[in-house]
Amino acid sequence: MFLKNCWYVAAWDHELLDGRMLPRTILEEAVLLYKSESGKVVALRDRCCHRGVPLHLGRREGDCVRCMYHGLKFDPTGKCIQIPGQDVIPPKLGVRSYPVVEKDHLVWIWMGDPDKADPGLIIDFPYLRDPQWKGIPDYMHYDANWLLIVDNLSDFAHLAFVHTKTLGGSEEYAYVTKPVAVERLPRGFRVERWHMNAAPPPFHRKVLPAAEKDVNVDRRNIGHMHIPGIFFLESMFSPAGSGSEHGNREGTREYRNCQFMTPETRRPT
Ligand code: FES
Repeated sequence: MFLKNCWYVAAWDHELLDGRMLPRTILEEAVLLYKSESGKVVALRDRCCHRGVPLHLGRREGDCVRCMYHGLKFDPTGKCIQIPGQDVIPPKLGVRSYPVVEKDHLVWIWMGDPDKADPGLIIDFPYLRDPQWKGIPDYMHYDANWLLIVDNLSDFAHLAFVHTKTLGGSEEYAYVTKPVAVERLPRGFRVERWHMNAAPPPFHRKVLPAAEKDVNVDRRNIGHMHIPGIFFLESMFSPAGSGSEHGNREGTREYRNCQFMTPETRRPT
C-alpha cells in the first residue's frame, strides 16, 4: 500500500521543542519522535516490545525512554538497556529505530530498509532556510487518503470554483486558462499555468498597497509534485502586460508553498 523506501516528513522541528515526546502514526506504524540532549532527533517504534504499551506515555531519562508499565528502558537506538529486577537482558531485545534527518526545520524519516536511507535523496526546498522568505510553518491533518491530496494540489483547475474567494479570484480562471506545460520529472511531474490580465485574487489583494489592489495582473503558477507526496508551488503576480512571460520581473511579487503529505494510514494524512 505504501512506498517505504523514501523520505517522509515526520514533523516540523518546533514540534519537538522542550523535550516533547511526539507520537505520530506514519504508514500505519506508531512512531515516537523526540530530540536527544545533543539535539539529534530520535525516532523509535512507539510500542514497547514487552507488552505493547506506547512509549510516548513513558518517561524520558536523559536520551533514553523508560516504559512506565514494567519499567524497561530503551536507548536512542531502541536497544533495551535495563529490565528492573532482571540482570540478563537478551541482546536483541529492543524496539525498532528509524533513520531520521533534520533539515531546514523539517524532520525527515525513512520507513523502509535502513541500509537504503540515503540523505542525498531528500529533496531540497531552499526557501525554507532563506531568511529573506517569511514562512508560516504548520501541521495540517487531513481526513483523506494522501493520493487524493496529491491529486487535488496538482490540479489548478479547481481554484476557480473551490477557492473563488481566496486563492482563485474568479471563475474565469477555469474558462480562459489551461496548463501551458505538463512535464514528467525523474521522480514526479511539473505543471505550469498562466492567467493573463485578471484581477488579483483575494489572498494577493491583502498584501498589495491600496493603489494596486484593483490593478490587473498576469499570474503564473508552477506546481511540482514529487514522490511520495511532496508538493511545491511557485506563484507569481506581475503587472498585466509587463512581459513577465518573457522574463521581465519588474513589479513582480512571488509566493512559495510546500506541502509534504505523509500517510498516517490508508485514510488520514
Ligand atoms: S509493557 Fe513496557 S515494560 Fe512491560
